[in-house]
Amino acid sequence: MKQWLLILSSFLILCFSCKQDEKRARIVEDFNFNWQFQLGDFPKAVDSTFKSDDWRTLNLPHDWSIEGDFSEEHPAKPEGGALPTGVAWYRKTFKLSETNKNKIISIEFDGVYRKSEVWINGHYLGIRPNGYISFAYDLSDHLNFGNATNVIAVKVDNSEQPNSRWYSGSGIYRNVRLVTTEKLHVAHWGTYVTTPEISTEKGTVNLEVTLQNDSEIKKQFKLVSTILNAENLEVASVTSEGEIAKNSLAVNNQNFEVLNPNLWDTENPYLYKIVTKVFENDHLVDDYETPLGFRFFNFDAEKGFSLNGKPTKMRGVCLHHDNGALGAVANYEAIKRKLQIMKDMGVNAIRVSHNPSSLELLELCDDMGFIVQVEAFDVWKKKKVKADYNLYWDEWHEQDLKDFVKRDRNFPSVMMWSIGNEIREQFDSTGVSITKKLVNIVKSLDKTRPVTCALTENVPEKNFIYQSEALDLLGFNYKHADYDSFPKNFKGQKIIASESVSALETRGHYDLPSTEIKRWPPAHNQPFDGNDDLTVSAYDQVSAYWGATHEESWKAVKARDYIAGTFIWTGFDYIGEPIPYPYPARSSYFGIVDLAGFPKDVYYMYQSEWSKKDVLHIFPHWNWEAGQTVDVWAYYNNADEVELFLNGTSLGKKSKENDDLHVMWQVPFEAGTLKAVSRKNGTTVLEKEIHTAFEATKLELEPHKTTIKNDYYDLVYVAVNVLDEGNNLVPNADNLIEFEVSGGGKIVGVDNGYQASLEPFKANYRKAYNGKCLVIIQSNGKLENIELTAISNGLTSKSITINTSN
Ligand code: GAL
Repeated sequence: MKQWLLILSSFLILCFSCKQDEKRARIVEDFNFNWQFQLGDFPKAVDSTFKSDDWRTLNLPHDWSIEGDFSEEHPAKPEGGALPTGVAWYRKTFKLSETNKNKIISIEFDGVYRKSEVWINGHYLGIRPNGYISFAYDLSDHLNFGNATNVIAVKVDNSEQPNSRWYSGSGIYRNVRLVTTEKLHVAHWGTYVTTPEISTEKGTVNLEVTLQNDSEIKKQFKLVSTILNAENLEVASVTSEGEIAKNSLAVNNQNFEVLNPNLWDTENPYLYKIVTKVFENDHLVDDYETPLGFRFFNFDAEKGFSLNGKPTKMRGVCLHHDNGALGAVANYEAIKRKLQIMKDMGVNAIRVSHNPSSLELLELCDDMGFIVQVEAFDVWKKKKVKADYNLYWDEWHEQDLKDFVKRDRNFPSVMMWSIGNEIREQFDSTGVSITKKLVNIVKSLDKTRPVTCALTENVPEKNFIYQSEALDLLGFNYKHADYDSFPKNFKGQKIIASESVSALETRGHYDLPSTEIKRWPPAHNQPFDGNDDLTVSAYDQVSAYWGATHEESWKAVKARDYIAGTFIWTGFDYIGEPIPYPYPARSSYFGIVDLAGFPKDVYYMYQSEWSKKDVLHIFPHWNWEAGQTVDVWAYYNNADEVELFLNGTSLGKKSKENDDLHVMWQVPFEAGTLKAVSRKNGTTVLEKEIHTAFEATKLELEPHKTTIKNDYYDLVYVAVNVLDEGNNLVPNADNLIEFEVSGGGKIVGVDNGYQASLEPFKANYRKAYNGKCLVIIQSNGKLENIELTAISNGLTSKSITINTSN
């Protein structure tokens, strides 16, 4: 009996340890916590003995620019967000157990802006000037184990300015991981998956696995790759065996068949994954995951784009990388919220402008169902601003472009490689050879997606990037008035509106009459006839001269099948590029949604056109001077008419005619209630009311979700509305609001979407702007419910509870 027990328990222990062993072959450690940070230059900080105890301790991702005060004098200038840049150092001290000896330990950085240099225990690991590129260093040869400590030091140099046409942020603003493997392991970005054939009956899959043997002896290996479906069930598996020489890389191809694959599309983004296990003498030494989606797509010179055989116009937006009040910090929840707001508008495609994105953005686009155009560069050899990436072009562009493709080529959402945005070389003959070279680099790593470039020159013989004949897909920025000439001038070419619109708006501000269209800049030498408070009308009536209003542009794209889709400049306002105004304007006016995430009215025009939801949106607010004639616009869909009533009296029914995208009434103002009713075949679809607001008396708090995870990362965005006694938003309220927070959260940002506000983003107060502001709460790791209170002089305070979970 005893003997039996012994055998049984040894067996159990064995199984248990096998399992543990299996689970823990590759250890990926979140390396974001407990860094020390100091602004300034500290060359001695590379030494392990350097004392940095008095530096600030913080968790990554971190952007020091967003913590600063605005000033026109900052070298990044208002175009770069008017925030400080400079040089700073980060250090992290850590220990490794003796069991890690003989392992391969690497550090992975998703992005450091800019020109990072990294040292481990005083040994120099390298420099990466490109602030958007992901990179890794092998630390193994320089580490200490047991009680001895290790120090990693990172210098970040964002002092060469200006180096960007928009806000870049400064610091280690994306995630950092420490990855431990055995000496035989899958190389960094070491898998590449393609799906050569897809039908509803069968999908074939090729997985290229690059193995790396860092030991001094050759090794025999077994590679087992298994495809799991979204329910985590195995649907195919392939085993291969081989030998790998010492200190070398070896590429293995594995081919699979999946019967009746679920296709990935933007409405049902069904994802599989491939788990690759590497065995050495039947001992698991590494495991690695690769995302997998079955989808096929095609660009056609006449019919545009199709996804899985279905004609699909890309209803896209361009997005810069900043996350408003969080600055450049790449936070999963912040990006998810941003994408969810876009999804709800009906967006199905994202152009990541104009640089490699965070990993989280692409993971979320896979999960949520967006078609993605990723983009490598905003400049090549010819600069746009003084200290642009052109300074590093010769030495770095090959490596950066390769790393960009290798990192992103497994995401099914990624369907286009853009090698540049409005590149200067399109205007001179050097454009031909550089384009050919870049396209070759991309194609050497991925032939399954078209290579494109966002162009502005639409005279074919003057565009040398086009003349290279190397592009698979022509991206044109703006030029909507010339679309009709494209099929003739670019015969047989596939075309997408890589960038469009560039309209300008401030949420909640309206200039009358709404029918007067303005362009910026106006005729030569004339000042922009703007507003003293640096606002731009939220009626869709102002755009940059190279662009168009939202309606002008969408009508042009919608009417032409050969335009595969459009990417509107931009989905969200972003920090920097505050056209049309000088400082104190410091963030852009181009967004369909403001910097705080509050939709401007035109959001609902797109929603009515792009989503399946029933939409009825009327604006502006209803607080005007008595007798003033006000243009009342309605965006609607799924109805034949809208009837408008003022204080119960009908102002008539209106229907969109031809290609109209809104209807309008000119209404002499009279305080009270404006009501709109949309009807289809006489049946009411939706009703909307706007009331004249009285004096502000109270606050309302609207969290975007009610539970936060206590993981130090999760965020809750709380919208703050200033209301009158009847719960109407007070449309011009600018009350100063203070926040108190207790329990499991802290304030990490405040905003109100006003492009010329000089209040800091990091504060526990914010003035409302046009009735609204925002406070962002982040988990502080405590498993305690969060109490948030908003207080404002003369208004009834408001508190809410946010639950915390683990
Ligand atoms: C485009 C450019 C964008 C942005 C935009 C503003 O020409 O590609 O990055 O600057 O203009 O309208």
